[in-house]
Amino acid sequence: MPDRQAVIDLLNRLTDPVTGGGLMDGGKVKGLVVAEDRAGFVLEVDQAEVARYAPVRDQAEAALKGLPGITRVSVILTAETTPAPPRRTAGLSKEAVDQGRPKAPVPTDRPDHVRRVIAVGSGKGGVGKSTVAVNLAVALSQRGLRVGLLDADVHGPSLPTMLGISGKPDYVDGKMEPQRVHGLAAMSVGLLTQASDAMVWRGPMASQAMTQMLTQTRWGTEAAPLDVLVVDLPPGTGDVHLSLIQKTPLDGAIIVTTPQEVALADARRAHALFGKVGTPVLGLVQTMSGDVFGTDGGPAEAGRLGIPLLADIPLDAAVRRAGDSGTPFLIGAVTPDAAEPFGRLAGQVAAVLFP
Ligand SMILES: Nc1ncnc2c1ncn2[C@@H]1O[C@H](COP(=O)(O)OP(=O)(O)O)[C@@H](O)[C@H]1O
Ligand SMILES: [Mg+2]
Repeated sequence: MPDRQAVIDLLNRLTDPVTGGGLMDGGKVKGLVVAEDRAGFVLEVDQAEVARYAPVRDQAEAALKGLPGITRVSVILTAETTPAPPRRTAGLSKEAVDQGRPKAPVPTDRPDHVRRVIAVGSGKGGVGKSTVAVNLAVALSQRGLRVGLLDADVHGPSLPTMLGISGKPDYVDGKMEPQRVHGLAAMSVGLLTQASDAMVWRGPMASQAMTQMLTQTRWGTEAAPLDVLVVDLPPGTGDVHLSLIQKTPLDGAIIVTTPQEVALADARRAHALFGKVGTPVLGLVQTMSGDVFGTDGGPAEAGRLGIPLLADIPLDAAVRRAGDSGTPFLIGAVTPDAAEPFGRLAGQVAAVLFP
C-alpha cells in the first residue's frame, strides 16, 4: 500500500492555480483516501473556479495513477454553492420577507436555461428507476420537448450503459458539455468518476457533486432552453438524500416501485422524504408488474398515499434487453405492452409541468 505522506508530497508538487503554492497546502483537497490499491480525493472549489481547477484535476489523476500499486484513481471536482441572488421583494420589508420564508433552505442552484426539473426516485435500488427515467425522457422528447437527463445515481450510475455513452465531458467556457444522444442532453456521475468509486457520495459531498452536475452542465442556451431536466436520483431515504433533495430545485418527483412489499415500503419512505422538503409528488410508477411479482401492490400503495398511479409497466424482456444495449427501449425494438404505459406516463407528466 502506498504511503499517505508520499501522496501528500506528490500533490504538493502540483500547483494550486489560485494560491500559486502546492495543491495540498492550498486547502482545496478534501477527503483524501489512500487505501490498498486506490487513491482519490475531492477538489472542492468555488463555482467560478471550476474551469481553472479542471486541468489540475487531470494532472492529479495522472500523477496518482503513476504511483506503484495504485490501480484505481478518482479525483472529483466539486463546486461549492454560490450565494443566493437577492430575491425580488415587491416593496416588502426584509423582515416581512424573512418571516414569510419556509424553514427548509430554499434551493438556489437552479441550472441556467432549464424550465422544469423533475426527479425520478425510489427508496430501493434495482426496481427499474433508471429504466423509467430514460424512457420517460425519451417519451417527453418524442412529444417535441427539449429534454435533458441527469444520472445522479452514484450507487450504480447506469446511464452510460443504457444510453451507450462514455468519456469525460468536455469543459467549454467553464461548463461541462452534456452528451447528445437519442435526442437527449445527458450527463452522468458515471462519466465524472472512475467506475465504482463512490467515495464522495458519503456525507455532504453528495449534494455538492449533484449541484455541480446540475449547475455546471450546459443543459440549454438562451436561444434553446431545455424544457425538462429529468434527474435519476440515487436510491435511499437517509440524511444524505434529504440534503440532496433539499438543495435540488425540483418541480416534481415520480416514485418508482415494483409490486413487491419490500419495494412498496421503500416507496412509502421516499414519499415521506419528498413531503419533508415540500417537493410535489406527481405520482407513482409501478414497473416489472406481471406474473412474477404480482400486479396489485403499486395501485394499492398509490391509493393509500393519495397520489396518482401514473403508469403500470409490465415485466418485459425487451425492456431489459434495451437497458443493456445502449439504445433506449422506446427508440429500439418496441413491444406495445410496455411502450403504451411509458407514453401515457410522459403525457401526464407533460400535462402537469406545462398546464
Ligand atoms: N419493465 C421491465 N421489464 C424487464 N426488465 C426491467 C424492467 N425495468 C427494468 N428492468 C431491468 O431491471 C434491471 C434494473 O433496472 P434499473 O432501471 O437499472 O433499476 P434501478 O435504476 O432502480 O436500479 C435492469 O437490468 C433493467 O433492464
Ligand atoms: Mg439506476
